[in-house]
Amino acid sequence: MKLISVGLLLFVALFAHSAPIAHDEIVSKTAEGFRLLRLEDGAEPEWVTEDQKLELMKTGKHFFDVTEVWETKQSLPYAKAPAVTYPTPSHQSQVRPLISTLSVSNMQTNLNKLSSFNNRYYRASTGKDASQYILDTVSTIASGRSGVTVQPFTHSWTQFSIIAKIPGSKAQTPVTIIGAHMDSINLQNPTSGRAPGYDDDGTGTVNLIEIFRALMVGDFKPSTPVEFHWYSGEEAGLLGSQAIATQYKRNGVSVKAFMELDMSGYFKPGTEEVMALQADYIDSGLNTWLGKLIDEYSNIGWTMDIPCGYACSDHASWNEEGYPTSFPYEAVTGDDNPEVHSPDDNASVRGFSWSHSLEFAKVGLAFVYEMAI
Ligand SMILES: *[C@@H]1O[C@H](CO)[C@@H](O)[C@H](O)[C@H]1NC(C)=O
Repeated sequence: MKLISVGLLLFVALFAHSAPIAHDEIVSKTAEGFRLLRLEDGAEPEWVTEDQKLELMKTGKHFFDVTEVWETKQSLPYAKAPAVTYPTPSHQSQVRPLISTLSVSNMQTNLNKLSSFNNRYYRASTGKDASQYILDTVSTIASGRSGVTVQPFTHSWTQFSIIAKIPGSKAQTPVTIIGAHMDSINLQNPTSGRAPGYDDDGTGTVNLIEIFRALMVGDFKPSTPVEFHWYSGEEAGLLGSQAIATQYKRNGVSVKAFMELDMSGYFKPGTEEVMALQADYIDSGLNTWLGKLIDEYSNIGWTMDIPCGYACSDHASWNEEGYPTSFPYEAVTGDDNPEVHSPDDNASVRGFSWSHSLEFAKVGLAFVYEMAI
């Protein structure tokens, strides 16, 4: 089966390289159920069926599914944003008290609810129910806060993404963004299989909700705007984050920094607890700054991870559009949660740790505060 898929991919690749992809071709191929995937940095995208796409996912292959953004991307030539100088962390006396209000029990309540949906697959009705739960929860937290907005970002598929915005008191730009993906997947049976997605990416999702809550209760008023993003469809080729990042690029939105939290709740028993900073498709200046933040605000240390590779999480969608990104991960690759994408990604995994996840929430809160205050 895999060999056949690879043969077909080579076959379609020959055609894909022969001419630019026309608008009509995108419309008709999409209507026939094909998906347009970019499998390597800079490569021409290739048409595959949904079955071929799933086979690739099962082999662990990462890719951008660019079906819905390709035409926009073609009209937006890659341009790296000007290098940003990041401020020395200097608001300890404001950040530390806010950090101390972060609650594991709130995160646990939200994650128990989110993992109780059969799955959070981006095309499943339960995936939409999960996005509605996040929208309601975050909207309630934001209610009565002047200028703060919480909006669904709808897509052509069932589950929507969500954007919460805290306005800047001095300027409407540049934006600081922290993101996580709300969807989960059972790779053996995506549409109806059980996928609690407790760690992937339930932990990042509830880290963001709790950071947002702590900042709202603490009456955080940044100088420049802050946005919290919960993405749909990360597992299916970074769909939600690409839709949003390309829209921001097209609208000329300036982004100061982007940070992804995708899995924060596990470290391998017997190993030293660290944050593993992703080493590729990130901004090295921002990574250096993130290391300083971790030194300042976390009880655990950090190390550089081995390269994650092409299209490995939502930060890659922002990096593709030239924005500065960073991504602290729960453990060095190989020592990370072994149960992802299965029915067993739940709270019982040996090595799952709320105190570990809390460290990422602390760093996420400090990231937002120090960057945008
Ligand atoms: C987690 O999954 C394992 C293996 O399927 C199961 O035995 C266990 O009861 C589950 N735990 C929770 C909290 O659902």
